[in-house]
Parts: sequence; structure tokens; C-alpha cells
Amino acid sequence: MKSKVAVITGGTTGFGKGTAQVLASKGVKVVISGRRKELGDQIVADIRAKGGEAMFTFTDVNDEASVRALVETAVAHYGRLDMAVNNAGISTEGAKLGDSETARFQEMIQTNVLGVYFGLKYQIQQMLKNGGGSIVNLASIAGLNGIPHTGAYCATKHAVVGLTKASALDYATQGIRINAVAPGAAKTEIIVKALTQGVYDEASISAMLPMNRMGVVQEIVNGIVWLLSDEASFVTGHILNIDGGFQAK
Ligand SMILES: NC(=O)c1ccc[n+]([C@@H]2O[C@H](COP(=O)([O-])OP(=O)(O)OC[C@H]3O[C@@H](n4cnc5c(N)ncnc54)[C@H](OP(=O)(O)O)[C@@H]3O)[C@@H](O)[C@H]2O)c1
Repeated sequence: MKSKVAVITGGTTGFGKGTAQVLASKGVKVVISGRRKELGDQIVADIRAKGGEAMFTFTDVNDEASVRALVETAVAHYGRLDMAVNNAGISTEGAKLGDSETARFQEMIQTNVLGVYFGLKYQIQQMLKNGGGSIVNLASIAGLNGIPHTGAYCATKHAVVGLTKASALDYATQGIRINAVAPGAAKTEIIVKALTQGVYDEASISAMLPMNRMGVVQEIVNGIVWLLSDEASFVTGHILNIDGGFQAK
């Protein structure tokens, strides 16, 4: 992985932050993005203190021009783009469908679906110019199953699965591999928010997963990094379940 260049959307916390740290430790030059600059700058400082190379750039994945600028910034600073993680995502509802709010569904479509679409589009355009690359999108167990009280979120994550599979086929012969990770629950900000709002309680989330516990960030990051790496060179269009056995049910 040494000297490769990666961009990560939603790199300020959770899986994005963890992936940035692991990639940087392997010698990848990482462009971390998100909206919270202070958090991004701190991660960059920590990576540099350990001898890695990283930079932060403000990116709002709701805005197509902002996502295009993220790819342009990576290429302007580091000369190419080899890896991308379309990780930024939100989950802003927790109600039965008939009680859910249309505006919240629209927000999630913008961030979780169009945000991933914008990322793929500009990352692919650049990777074609530099001879290939590897992309990982963040789906979810909610991208492969129905989860109660999350109809809108489920719909957006099913869309991420569709984008992943179709785009993987489009570029299978052009050196670009496109995969997704479908995590079960891990206690990042997105889950802490749902717990705080009383959408779920911790015991019922754990009970949903056969291992009867939530995942930890590192367990999800390991899968993302493997899919990005050359060790997964014959893997494309794959949805990797990292979910404590949820899909086996
Ligand atoms: N944790 C889980 O249990 C779980 C399970 C399945 C799937 N996932 C998926 O995994 C991905 C990462 O989530 P996480 O668990 O690491 O949660 P997280 O800690 O809440 O991270 C979400 C990241 O997305 C960024 N983000 C949100 N809206 C954005 C926007 N408009 N533009 C740019 N960045 C934006 C946030 O950064 P800023 O606020 O700084 O912009 C943050 O860094 C998400 O797609 C989520 O749906 C998580």
C-alpha cells in the first residue's frame, strides 16, 4: 500500500477516522474529509506525529461540487488517486414508516445515496486516468434486510448496495474494484445518537446480532482495509458482512 493515495468521506469520526489511521500506518497518503475541521485537523496531526502522511479537506457530500473538489484536491496534492472510501452517512429517524418524516428521508437520500453516487462518479473518473483503483462504500445490515423503525435508512443503504454492484460491473475490466462493507451495529456517533434519542437500547441492538454484542470500530475497519488492498485483487461487486453473524440467520 506504500505511497498510494486515498480519500475518505466522513473521516472525522467512527469508521472513517479508523480507516484513515490504519491506512496511514501502512504508508498510504490519506485525504480525510468531512465538515468538522477541528476533528479532521486533530486526526491529521496525530497521523503526522506517528510519521504518516495525511491532510484534511472540508467536504460536504450533499454538494456535488464539494465532492468533485475533494478528488481534485487529492490529485493536486498527491498526484493520483488509488483508493476511496465512501463512508459519510446519517440516520436521522426512528419511527414506523407511517409516522416517519418525509424531510428526513430526503436528507438521507441526499447524504447516503447521492453522496455515495457523487463520490463514485469523480473517484472513478480519476482512477481511469491513473490506471485503476479500489473503492469501498459503507452499506449496512440495513442495506440487505428490513430493520424495524428504519425504513428510510434501509432504503438508502439498499441503494448503496445497488450502486456498488452495478458500478463494479461497469469497471470490472478497467482495473477499478468496487465493493461495500455491510456492518452490524458498532458504537460510533451514529449509534450513540440513536441510543440517546431512545430509538433503540443497547441490549436490544446486541440481541439482534447472533454474537450478542456490538462490533468495535477496528473490526469494521479491518474489512474496509482488506477490500481496498491488493489482497482482495479478485474481489469486486462484493458486499462484505461484518455483523456478528446477522446474515446467517
Ligand atoms: N456504526 C454502525 O453501527 C453502522 C452500521 C452500519 C452502517 N454504518 C455506516 O457507516 C458509515 C460511517 O458511520 P459511523 O458508524 O462511523 O458513524 P459516525 O461516527 O456518525 O460517522 C459519520 C461520518 O459521516 C460524516 N458526515 C455526515 N454527513 C456528512 C456530510 N453531509 N458531508 C460529509 N460528511 C458527512 C461525519 O462527519 P462530519 O460531521 O464531520 O461531516 C462523520 O465523520 C455510515 O455510512 C453509516 O451509515 C454504521
